[in-house]
Order: sequence, then C-alpha cells, then structure tokens
Amino acid sequence: MPLFLPHFNIQKFNTLAVPAVANYFVAVQSDEELQEALAFAKTEKLPLLILGGGSNIVLRADFPGLVIHIKTRGLDVVAENDEFVWLKVAAGENWHQLVEYSLDNGYYGLENLSLIPGSVGAAPIQNIGAYGVELKDVFAELSALNIQSGLMVTFTKESCQFGYRDSIFKQSLKDQYVITTVTLKLSKMPRLNLQYPALRAALADIPGAEVSPEQVSAAVVTIRQSKLPDPQQIPNVGSFFKNPIISVAQFEALKLQYPQLVSYPVDELHVKLAAGWLIDHAGWRGKEINGVRVHPDQALVLTNPGKLEGKLILQLADRVVASVREQFGVVLEMEPRVYPE
Ligand code: FAD
Ligand code: EPU
Repeated sequence: MPLFLPHFNIQKFNTLAVPAVANYFVAVQSDEELQEALAFAKTEKLPLLILGGGSNIVLRADFPGLVIHIKTRGLDVVAENDEFVWLKVAAGENWHQLVEYSLDNGYYGLENLSLIPGSVGAAPIQNIGAYGVELKDVFAELSALNIQSGLMVTFTKESCQFGYRDSIFKQSLKDQYVITTVTLKLSKMPRLNLQYPALRAALADIPGAEVSPEQVSAAVVTIRQSKLPDPQQIPNVGSFFKNPIISVAQFEALKLQYPQLVSYPVDELHVKLAAGWLIDHAGWRGKEINGVRVHPDQALVLTNPGKLEGKLILQLADRVVASVREQFGVVLEMEPRVYPE
C-alpha cells in the first residue's frame, strides 16, 4: 500500500512554487499502487489531482483532495523494423531524460522537443509542442486507466483527438483517465525538421546535409535557455497563454493597424497570433504587480520569483487578458490548468 501523507505542502511539486496544501498526497510507483490510490479517493470521496512534474498547473488555493504523484518508471522497445522503433515509456519518466535517452540510442524524432519540463504521462494531455514538432508527430498509442471503472484502455493517435495544445483528455474525457504509458514511434534514420525559422537560423553555420539530430537538440536547448526562465531559478509554467487563433478577416484588420504583428498560417480561414507579441505590445513585458512578473525576455511567461500565492498570479493574468482584449480585440486563453477548479 503506498503511503498517504495528510496535510501535505505541494510547493516543491509545482514549478510556479505556489505554497498550497493538499488534504492528502501519495506518490505511486506502479499500476497497482495507482489502483490503490484511486480506491482510497473513492472511499474517502476526495477530488483528484493527477500530478506529473507540476509544470503546467496553477494552484489557486489549497487542494481539498488527493494529489496522486505519478512516479512509475520504465522504457521498453516493444517493436521494431528496419526503419522504426516503438518505444513504450512509463508515465512517470521525465520528458527531457527520454529525449536524451532516445538520442543516445539512435532513435530520432524527439530532438525539437528537447528541454520541455514535466513527465511523459502529461505530454499527450496538451499534445506538447515546440520548434515545429508536436507529440502527435511521433505518437503511436497510450494506455490509460479509467478512473471510474478501473479498466485499462488503449488510445490510438486518432482517438486522442490531438490539436494545438489540446487532446480529448482536456475535452470530453477530462478527468476520466490516468495515462500510464505512452508508446512513441521513433525513426532509426535522422529525419530533421528545421522548418522553424529561429531553429534554422541557429544552425545556419552548419551545411544542411551535415546537421545531426544531436545538433538540433543542442540548438533547441540554447534557444530555449535564452528566453525561457529555468523554473528552478525563477518559478514559472512556460507559456501562460495559448497563441490565439483568429479569423483571417480579423487578422487582416489588425495587420493594417499593426503591421509588425507576428502570425502563423493555420488554414484558409484562420491565423494564429503570437500571444507574446500582443502582451509585449500592450506594454506588459517586464511589468510586476504584487510581486508577480511578466518575464522581461518573453512576455508570454509569467513568473513568481517570491513564491507567492497562486491567486496573485491569476490576478496578473486577468489584467493581461483584459488589456490585450481592449487593445487588440483578441481573447487570450490560459494554457496551464487551474486547481482547485
Ligand atoms: P503537470 O503540470 O503535472 O500536469 C499538467 C496536467 O496534466 C494536469 O491537468 C494533470 O492532471 C495532467 N496529467 C499529468 N500527468 C497525467 C497522467 N499521467 N495522466 C492523466 N493526466 C495527467 N509545453 C509545451 O507544450 N511546449 C513547450 O515548449 C513548453 N515549454 C515549457 C517551458 C517551461 C520553462 C515550463 C515550466 C513549461 C513548459 N511547457 C511547455 C509546459 C509543460 O512543460 C508541459 O505541459 C508538460 O507536458 C507538463 O508536464 P507535467 O508532468 O509537469 O504536468
Ligand atoms: N515575441 C515578442 N515579444 C515577447 C515574446 C515574443 O515580440 O515578449 C514575439 C517573438 O519575437 C516571436 C514571436 O513572438 O516573433 C513568438 O515567440 P517565440 O518564438 O518565443 O514562441 P511563442 O509563440 O511565444 C511557442 C510555444 C512555446 C514553444 C515555442 C517554440 C505556445 C503557447 N507557446 O511560444 O511553448 O516552446 O513556441 O515552439 O504555443 C509552452 O507551451 O509552455 C511553451 C513554452
């Protein structure tokens, strides 16, 4: 039976370093321990927070329930052919360590996703993405435990309904499953994705044919370290808002007024805007309110240097949203999830 710790401070378990107390905390190292933790929550009628690295949550207040910290381990090649390996990874493994493991073993496809904090089990939740690659590009399937029935279910790529920072686990199946393993389809041959302009620019000195996946990974790490604060030094959750997707008509009107607006094509009817640019040009970059800050190197990142309460971060977020809406008519949506809801 895993150890249930009552009245447990989870400040060290969220990268915003918000001090918040959970009624109960339990770390689980196997599917059996997970089942036992879920049974305890059912008996005690406790709300659940399934926790990986805590790098995409905001604790608004104390959590009146059971926090289940997923600490399962394991990486197995479950199938391979001349071209690909299928690597099955336990949810509790660290994402960046997985990227390093894959490179060390000559399994390619994760290099653009280097240095994203957090656990493997959380990666499908918002279909993590960076530098032109998303989890869905390397995803084969996942196993997840149904919280109500206790049954283990396999989800294919199609059934996960991945989108930009989105999946079925944030929509119709929200709070219904605990992801236990993720299987990735990785290539034995390097297949580089250098479409992201900043990444291409960082590798411009190396002749195209000679660029290696290790160099792509190193370049991604360097770019990220130049603008994203290390949560160990300055508590944060990465991008606080999603890049908003608007209609082409709204985009064209805005572009007339703000010719420098940064945007990315989505489809014939939609355009994605850089939320960091909007927040920056609404005057927020580097601003601090009640000890909580808009990061000076990347306005899309809110930081909590004083390790203060979550409600102060949410108050700053509200002000940023109101001001971007007023100036640009664009509504920003938060990326991290708020607990308790
Ligand atoms: P947590 O914060 O622990 O949980 C996030 C959500 O997933 C919660 O709702 C939780 O209940 C749920 N969850 C976690 N594990 C499971 C599970 N096993 N089963 C079911 N539900 C689960 N994200 C990007 O996409 N791209 C980036 O480039 C990026 N850069 C970042 C940079 C920094 C500095 C930081 C701090 C964050 C960044 N993020 C980025 C966000 C974050 O790293 C990802 O969302 C990551 O996948 C979160 O993992 P986690 O284990 O910390 O999740
Ligand atoms: N910009 C500004 N001012 C700022 C910040 C950004 O003008 O203060 C401009 C930049 O100059 C650039 C554009 O906005 O032209 C985009 O900035 P950046 O390249 O830093 O990327 P982003 O759109 O802000 C997204 C993801 C990141 C991901 C990077 C790289 C979202 C919400 N964020 O950031 O993901 O790492 O692209 O692919 O999609 C995360 O989700 O937590 C995260 C960090």
